Amino acid sequence: MEAQCLALSGLLGERKVAVPGTSTYNLSLDSYFSAQQSTIHPACIVSPETARDVSAAVEWLTTEGNNCHFAVRSGGHTSSVGASNIAGGVVIDLRTLGTVELSADKSTVLVGAGATWDAVYAKLDPLGLSVNGGRCAGVGVGGLTLGGGISHFSPRFGWTCDVVSNFQVILADGRIVDANATSNLDLFVALKGGNNNFGIVTRIALATFEQGLVWSGTVYNSLSSVDDIIAEFVKLNSRDAYDEYASYITTFGYSQPQGMAVIANQLEYTKEVEDPPIYRGYLSRPSLQKTTQLMNMTALAKRTAAFSPVDSRALSRVSTLVSTAAVMKAAFNHWNASVPAITSVSNIVWALVLEPLPPAIYARAAKSNALGLADRTEPLVVALLSVTWSDAKDDQHVAETANALMGAIDEEARKLGAFDPYVYLNYAGQHQDPIASYGAENVNRLRQVRQRVDPREVFKFQMASITLPAGLPEKVKTILQPDIQTTKLILTKTPTPWPLGVDDVLVRVHAAAPCNGELTWAQISPEFFPDKKLHVPCQDLAGTVASAPLDSGFAVGDDVFCRVDATRPGAGREYAIAKNRELAHKPKSLSWVDAAATPLSSLTAWQALFVHGTLDAAGIHGNAAAREQNGKQRVLIAGAGGSVGGWALQLAALAGAGVVVAVCGPDKEATVKQLGATEALNYRETSVREWATADAGRQVDLVVDCIGGETLAGCWIAVKEGGTLVSVNTPPDMVKPAGLNKKLAKNVFFIVDPYGRNLKDIATLIEAGKVKPLVDSVWEMNDFQKAFERLEEGHAKGKIIIKISPEA
Ligand SMILES: Cc1cc2nc3c(=O)[nH]c(=O)nc-3n(C[C@H](O)[C@H](O)[C@H](O)COP(=O)(O)OP(=O)(O)OC[C@H]3O[C@@H](n4cnc5c(N)ncnc54)[C@H](O)[C@@H]3O)c2cc1C
Ligand SMILES: NC(=O)c1ccc[n+]([C@@H]2O[C@H](COP(=O)([O-])OP(=O)(O)OC[C@H]3O[C@@H](n4cnc5c(N)ncnc54)[C@H](OP(=O)(O)O)[C@@H]3O)[C@@H](O)[C@H]2O)c1
Repeated sequence: MEAQCLALSGLLGERKVAVPGTSTYNLSLDSYFSAQQSTIHPACIVSPETARDVSAAVEWLTTEGNNCHFAVRSGGHTSSVGASNIAGGVVIDLRTLGTVELSADKSTVLVGAGATWDAVYAKLDPLGLSVNGGRCAGVGVGGLTLGGGISHFSPRFGWTCDVVSNFQVILADGRIVDANATSNLDLFVALKGGNNNFGIVTRIALATFEQGLVWSGTVYNSLSSVDDIIAEFVKLNSRDAYDEYASYITTFGYSQPQGMAVIANQLEYTKEVEDPPIYRGYLSRPSLQKTTQLMNMTALAKRTAAFSPVDSRALSRVSTLVSTAAVMKAAFNHWNASVPAITSVSNIVWALVLEPLPPAIYARAAKSNALGLADRTEPLVVALLSVTWSDAKDDQHVAETANALMGAIDEEARKLGAFDPYVYLNYAGQHQDPIASYGAENVNRLRQVRQRVDPREVFKFQMASITLPAGLPEKVKTILQPDIQTTKLILTKTPTPWPLGVDDVLVRVHAAAPCNGELTWAQISPEFFPDKKLHVPCQDLAGTVASAPLDSGFAVGDDVFCRVDATRPGAGREYAIAKNRELAHKPKSLSWVDAAATPLSSLTAWQALFVHGTLDAAGIHGNAAAREQNGKQRVLIAGAGGSVGGWALQLAALAGAGVVVAVCGPDKEATVKQLGATEALNYRETSVREWATADAGRQVDLVVDCIGGETLAGCWIAVKEGGTLVSVNTPPDMVKPAGLNKKLAKNVFFIVDPYGRNLKDIATLIEAGKVKPLVDSVWEMNDFQKAFERLEEGHAKGKIIIKISPEA
């Protein structure tokens, strides 16, 4: 037996500590909901019989020197793998604390945290009572309540946690305390959504109410009914007139074993009313199948559990949407489009479950729980992607497809103004960060509670958990453009951005770079920018990852650089959010300043030459055919003295372009030649138009223009018949010289795609010493005004960099 298990066994008695190979150990593992959790092997499993047992175990586990990692479980139904089981550590399995007792006046039920909801209903049903608890047998009272809890009775009483009157809690030092409205009030509030960050809850007191049978119906419809079903869902999910006895869920589900996709509407009415009129819209329309019945809560919870497969692999991802037909239809369309990608996965059930979350539920006690929804007013929808399948070899594919689907739904919801950042903890997927979604103020409050009850933070460092995000400031120093109608900037503080999307990576920024003209983009083209965008400038960053999704390819502490898409807040602040597809690892040879000088300019140049232009990138890596082809081309770069132009020169020369003409000011001739120009044209002496008109033999196959205006008009003369004209400044057609009758293969303006994969290629070239960024000047964050003045002069000799952290 492992040393820690031996010690616990001595402390609590052998009977209470199960080791591998025993039936107690095996039964405990088998009782997790997901196969992924069942196959994690702890060193031993502690089954406490009293709160004192838990206290003794916690005291021992958290004593300095024992250094033992542990996990706590109640029903074992969380979808976050590893949050209630731990490889090689100790699991405290609370199922042995599962008593259900009624207070003398029957107003309260005292439930051991390890009880399951069916056991609670089994006790209360015969007495004509019930409780605002979970909907499914097997789900634990502990986990569901500490994450919020959605009940069939929620429209009448709020979240499950809202009806708790007392938590008995074991703190990190082993103390047994009560948390309620008069004792440990801060902890009482924190536990209502704060999960296992503060202690182990051993007993929960919940308010009871009188309850008879409930009506339950399931109506299956074909996918073609989707518009009507969504309309009905949205109509019932009303802010002002939600029927508080109505509890309903609509699921878009594909089942591989059954080879079909349907819409399932699970309708409950928590009053003994047959075919409740509120559901007429569902019940009266043609359906594939329909069942309706009156039953008690125990039977209903067991029937619900019977729909869940046993021993399956399981995954969930959750989003919150504002309840509109448009966003639900968009969610359906994305789900429907995702089905072909998973039909080959054995025994997969791919279900997008939509649950109404009206103010009747979330606003009842919004200021007395930790969920952070007090400022919402609209009816919301919890959109849960719930997936089960059978084969571990499909894990990666299922996770990636799930992330892509939920990412697409989030993105569409944002576009439709129907995205809510709340992440329901009990449905959160593996790397979602539900507690961060409660908002900076709530997270800060929760941290203060932890500081008080667990100052050594043992629950953070020793316990497997869905944890509070680590040590981030509440607000960060930020350069902000408060009004897009002017280019005026201010230095202020804004809330620390939280990574809420499945592909969000939080980066501590060391250095950032603005781009010429960026402060006018939102004014000139408002259609590209979300209304609620926080206008933080500087879309280029170099920094260190502070948090990243598990399967993102990036880990906390990685040094990275990237261009953040301009539709989202930039990096002129201490922390920024990048998408993992935008990021690349920073070349070790680059300083923070040089790294921040690279992304936008190099990516734009890369895409101008190799994606929109006619050079072949394979030439860079020595491909003979590509080099031969590139060698035949004459290329002109207008604005070669600037950042994009400088990169275009280097990359064109590296790819083997035959001739590279650099259009620049007189003071940059030497530099452009060093970077690979075969010829420099001083535009202040001779315009591009004059240069090209003087000798038709000078015409080029490819132009990359960074300047626009008269320079770009001259480029029309400089490019050959059948050639290619690319501008990153202005659509070339807008300045085509009148009367010019020249047919080009292509004339194009494009906006850069901030792809991390292109940046990775560029990083490799930098590491090999083949290309390098150009820096004009470096500014302290407090001198941001001067940095932007220099930028707007329009004659920078490379990127203008703002140092954001002291490390830069
Ligand atoms: C089939 C199914 C049906 C569901 N139905 C509902 C539903 O109707 N409504 C709803 O809101 N959610 C529902 N859920 C989600 C459910 O609320 C969460 O999965 C919840 O985490 C399960 O709690 P548990 O105790 O079973 O899980 P566990 O895996 O045991 O625990 C979940 C988390 O809570 C922590 N925890 C558990 N007990 C304690 C404790 N006593 N003290 C401190 N920390 C503790 C664990 O460490 C872990 O981090 C359902 C899930 C499934 C799989
Ligand atoms: N579409 C996109 O996705 C995209 C991406 C990145 C950038 N851009 C745009 O591309 C442009 C260039 O960006 P940048 O970052 O390279 O800017 P930059 O670094 O500020 O460079 C501008 C350069 O232009 C030169 N210049 C000014 N007038 C000129 C002229 N008439 N002929 C030739 N050169 C001239 C200046 O050099 P001298 O000192 O020699 O005059 C200066 O160095 C900006 O308009 C920017 O908004 C677009």
